Amino acid sequence: MRKKIIAANWKMNLHVAQAGELLAQLATIPTHATTQVIVAPAYVYLAQSINQLSHTTVHVASQDVSAHNNGAYTGEVSASMLAQLGVQYSIIGHSERRQYYHEDNELLLNKINRCLEHNINVLFCVGEHLVQRNSNTHFAIIKAQLVHTVFKLSEEEFANIIIAYEPVWAIGTGITATTLQAQEMHAYIRGLIVERYNNIVAQHTHIIYGGSCNAINASELFACADIDGGLIGGASLKIEDFTTIVKSV
Ligand code: PGA
Repeated sequence: MRKKIIAANWKMNLHVAQAGELLAQLATIPTHATTQVIVAPAYVYLAQSINQLSHTTVHVASQDVSAHNNGAYTGEVSASMLAQLGVQYSIIGHSERRQYYHEDNELLLNKINRCLEHNINVLFCVGEHLVQRNSNTHFAIIKAQLVHTVFKLSEEEFANIIIAYEPVWAIGTGITATTLQAQEMHAYIRGLIVERYNNIVAQHTHIIYGGSCNAINASELFACADIDGGLIGGASLKIEDFTTIVKSV
């Protein structure tokens, strides 16, 4: 059976004291043995997060990574630096990075490869815009996002990938995909993994949902057969809401 993964994406939020307080609270959330909680703070809070969570089962993720190994890339942070710090996951391909920083498939695949070279698991985000869903091209969009990136990996490499389905129209908008819409896309993605790899790989792959997932809708979403947890933005900044979400699995 696949574990449930509940990942907190803090984005560019919280002051240092607030981050410290939230980390202390995260450390005390009771979790099932079958639930993996991950927190993705801003780069500047990664060391502090690893420190404060070192005696817990909560893992730490970066929100991004450089596509380069090292060198003259001012402002960038490499996978090797993250790995040395103890970061175990990196979010790659979030729609905000695709949209505001024009990250394309080629760049994303480079980032994925840098992570894999340093044993960092990848939380790879895919998602369609509203116009694409309304024009019924959402399945083709998601397929293309996978085919040009993670589906280029070998079966062994792909074992380190978690897919996050995040419809762009649901991120930070308060509009969640219905359980029907989310489950339908998750099942579609799992089917694509069967086609590309095989059924065993597909059954082992975690596909989590993100986009206005909150304390109220989480349990219904997580009860769907192909939804293996959530990538939580806004609601992960409030400990009561995030605790409820973690308990919803
Ligand atoms: P949201 O963000 O939960 O605030 O919609 C999710 C995400 O962007 O990962």
